[in-house]
Order: sequence, then structure tokens, then C-alpha cells
Amino acid sequence: MIRVEDVRKSYGAFTALDGLTLNAAEGTVLGLLGPNGSGKTTTVKLLTTLLTPDSGDAWVAGHSVRKDPESVRRNLGLSGQYAAVDEKLTAFENLHMVGRLYGMNRRNATARAHELLADFRLTEVAGKRAGAFSGGMRRRLDLAGAVVARPKVVVLDEPTTGLDPRGRLDTWDVVAGLVSGGTTVLLTTQYLEEADRLADHIAVINHGSVIAEGTPTALKNRAGSGRVDVTVRDAADLQGATSVLTEATGGLAIPEVDHAALRVSVAAPGGHSVLVRVLAELDARSLAVTEASLRRPTLDDVFLQLTGGNTQPENHISKEGVPA
Ligand SMILES: Nc1ncnc2c1ncn2[C@@H]1O[C@H](COP(=O)(O)OP(=O)(O)O)[C@@H](O)[C@H]1O
Ligand SMILES: [Mg+2]
Repeated sequence: MIRVEDVRKSYGAFTALDGLTLNAAEGTVLGLLGPNGSGKTTTVKLLTTLLTPDSGDAWVAGHSVRKDPESVRRNLGLSGQYAAVDEKLTAFENLHMVGRLYGMNRRNATARAHELLADFRLTEVAGKRAGAFSGGMRRRLDLAGAVVARPKVVVLDEPTTGLDPRGRLDTWDVVAGLVSGGTTVLLTTQYLEEADRLADHIAVINHGSVIAEGTPTALKNRAGSGRVDVTVRDAADLQGATSVLTEATGGLAIPEVDHAALRVSVAAPGGHSVLVRVLAELDARSLAVTEASLRRPTLDDVFLQLTGGNTQPENHISKEGVPA
């Protein structure tokens, strides 16, 4: 339903997309996960025909963005990085207006607006001006506007960036609802937790190309079957704790050190036996610990591993995810 093939796009001398390739099957959510500046919005602009690729091509519902941009637009709904609602209009008026712009008659536009207000839990505030809405309500209204014409594909660019935790949970709910209705979704996000929660398939991008992809579970498995985290009380003990973790894994894994959080983390394929060894050794060396745990890897671990914990341009990452 969404296909991007070897797309390159530069802004002057700067290469924003560097041979990007993506695929999303009908009725699935593709999570495009990457840090700020990795090319997410540029990808969204290409798929929504706001930009043309320098080379390569992309298809939405089988229509090429180069050859048939009008058909692409007819099959696609967009909720951009910044919610686009008319603040002077009420929630109902916003959706009614979008329906009319799509050529619906008054009656159909009214019916569709009420249906969407209910789906996106906005019925109670239907008569309130959007200008008075919270970030979460505004985002839900924007999402509702993106699906007025029942597009086959919906593109959501960082739908929860800037929202409070409540707004984020509500937005996740409505996105999940969209998907259960069979819509194909491309969702960009900087939040690994969000991609994990909503996406069937995740493409991790950095500097305009995919550095890893797979199901959330497959990506997490890349980070090992478990992780051991240790937080020390004193910064002076960080080094000692790092060597304890290195030795506990037989030197097979290199711990990641978070100096600000006083935390060391390491892949622990041995699971709980590694944690037991770590605790005994920390104790033997009199290193004071405030927290120690064994946990399943998160997508954060995967991303740190892939990017070497550094997303700056000078730290080049090859296609295999191995620092060059
Ligand atoms: N119009 C533009 N002109 C020049 N550079 C741009 C323009 N738009 C984006 N960029 C650059 O391209 C890179 C990718 O941007 P973008 O696709 O917006 O990333 P993301 O959405 O992942 O944060 C960034 O380094 C950004 O500074
Ligand atoms: Mg962006």
C-alpha cells in the first residue's frame, strides 16, 4: 500500500534522503523511527507529493508520486508534524469544512463530522472553538480531519510530540482505532515506545536511510535476550561498576554508560545468572548501588546499539548498522 524505492532527496548540497526504501502492506502500521533531522518529515512530504524525489520513486495505493500525484492525494490523509486546525472554528465546524472541501453535500458532511467526533471522543466539545483545546484534543481533531474522506493510507508525522502523557495515551487509542478499521498507516516518531506500541513493522532511519528494520520484537531481540542495569550512588564508582559488568558477561558485551544518570547497562544473554554475579562482585568491591535490575531490552537499547549512542552526522553508520 506504501512503497518507497531508493529515493534520494537533497536540499542544496545537503542530502536528506540517501537511498531510502520502505514498504507497508495493506492494513498495517509502518513505524518510521528516527531522531530529529533523520529525514522523517522529508519522507512524509515525498509521500504526500509536497516534494518530488531527485531520484527513485514512491507509490501510494499503487500510484506513483511522480507520474500520478493526483491519485496519490486522493488516496491519502495527512496529519502533519504541527496540527492544522482552524482555531476560530468549533470542532464540528472544522470537520464539516473539511468534508465540504472534499465535495460532500451539507448533509453528508454533517453526518461524517458527527461520526468522527464520536470516534475521536470529541462529541462533548463539538461546539467549542478549537483555539481553546488542549494539545491532545487538537491532535485528535487534526487526525479526524485527515480521515474525513476515508483515505486508504494515512500519514501521521510525529503525532504525539509535545503532548502530555494523557494526550499521548489518547492519541495512541485513536490511532489503534484507525488501524483496526483497515487503514494503512505510516507513523513517524522519535519515541521507541510509541513505535513498539503501534507499529507492525519498524524501519529505523538515520541520515536519510534505513539502518535496521523488522517487527518490534525482532528489533528488540537484536539487543540480546536481556539487559542488566546498575545505578551507582557515587560518580567515582561508575568506572568500577563498568568493569564488573564487562567481566560478568565474559567480556562479550560492551556496557553503555550514562554518566548523567550514573547508570551502566549491558546485554546479558545469561539473564538472571549475570545479575547474581554482578551483585556479588559489586558487593565484594564495596561499590554502593542505588538500583540494579534485569529487564527485557527496549527499542532504546536497539537504537543506541545501532547508532553507537551518537546521532551526530560525523558518526557514520553503514547499512548493516555497524559504525564505519
Ligand atoms: N527546506 C529545507 N532546506 C534545507 N534543509 C532542510 C530543509 N528541510 C529539512 N532540511 C534538513 O534535512 C534534514 C532532515 O529533515 P527532516 O526530514 O525535517 O527531519 P525529521 O523530520 O526527521 O526531523 C535535517 O537535517 C534538516 O535540517
Ligand atoms: Mg519532522
